[in-house]
Amino acid sequence: MKYIDLRSDTVTRPSDEMRRIIAQAEVGDDVFGDDPTVNKLQKKVAGLFGKEAALYVPSGSMGNLVAIKTHTNPGEEAIFEEDCHSLNYEAGSMGAVAGLVSHTFRGRHGVMTREQVEPYIKKKSLHTPPTTLIALENTHNHAGGTIYPLEEIKKLREMAEEHELRMHLDGARIWNASVATGIPLDEYGRYFDSIQCCFSKGLGAPIGSIVVGDADFIERARRFRKMFGGGMRQVGIIASAAIYALDNNMSRMSEDHENAGFLAQNLAGIDGIDIDLDSVQTNIVIMNIASSGKQVPDVLSKLKEMGILAVQFGATKIRCVTHLNVNRTDIETAIEKFKAVFAN
Ligand SMILES: Cc1ncc(COP(=O)(O)O)c(C=O)c1O
Repeated sequence: MKYIDLRSDTVTRPSDEMRRIIAQAEVGDDVFGDDPTVNKLQKKVAGLFGKEAALYVPSGSMGNLVAIKTHTNPGEEAIFEEDCHSLNYEAGSMGAVAGLVSHTFRGRHGVMTREQVEPYIKKKSLHTPPTTLIALENTHNHAGGTIYPLEEIKKLREMAEEHELRMHLDGARIWNASVATGIPLDEYGRYFDSIQCCFSKGLGAPIGSIVVGDADFIERARRFRKMFGGGMRQVGIIASAAIYALDNNMSRMSEDHENAGFLAQNLAGIDGIDIDLDSVQTNIVIMNIASSGKQVPDVLSKLKEMGILAVQFGATKIRCVTHLNVNRTDIETAIEKFKAVFAN
């Protein structure tokens, strides 16, 4: 059966054109810094964010870890939003590998505010783990692809400077935030010491993420990438797909956002499905089915029988994500199948 796969934007497949580009990629040994395609990608992305340098990494999880490890020392404290990806879905790396103590705050739509966080910043003392980093996520996956308002980012940046904290962005889907708001990537770049972004999500490349920052930071990050086993060799093979994705698949993300909005509006009209429509800002739709009395695994397996794939996202929640391999007709089909499942 051919499925309409709404589990994640990570399920996208390289197009024929992308595969052609991959096949023709110029390569070298990137651990020696010799891969021209990787060097081109790193220069391009650093430029997009107005940063001095960039480092290509195999995954978003490694990008976050490399960046945060480079900024901090074991025993220090870092501030995270409670439902962020780095703490909840990266296998405990912030504690186990970076050795950090995490202080979490609950954000509305994934957004922590200066007022909320500032009173809890700890200075270095005999007793306390000093707070040295704050990490944000934009867009925020668990909150439903929500966008961090620029005004709040600016306030947190001022706070970070006053308290000498480094500021990292998990920008796995920063492309979606930029396309949805029209805020250029280099504007986001101004407020963070480092940003991690993924090519393997809505941009549709098969593999890879990148970390941007100043040149000294990226040089130090390179060592941690090597330590974590992320030094790759003729990796221009996949970096070429990332360049192609940036050039061809970014502006079309507005289609994914429209499809997610359309999906959310229609699903919200079904009895037993509750959606916070304010949280549907990009390509993610999270619905709560508690009021239907149905169990999420049962709903997912019925949908699967009908050719629709989605994922469980908490005890009573389901997540759907739109991306370049689903079009408006697929979304209409998905809506019909949801209606059928919830009709009885
Ligand atoms: C917000 C966010 N950050 C980081 C990651 C990690 O990316 P990867 O799966 O490439 O490790 C993900 C993956 O879904 C994500 O959604």
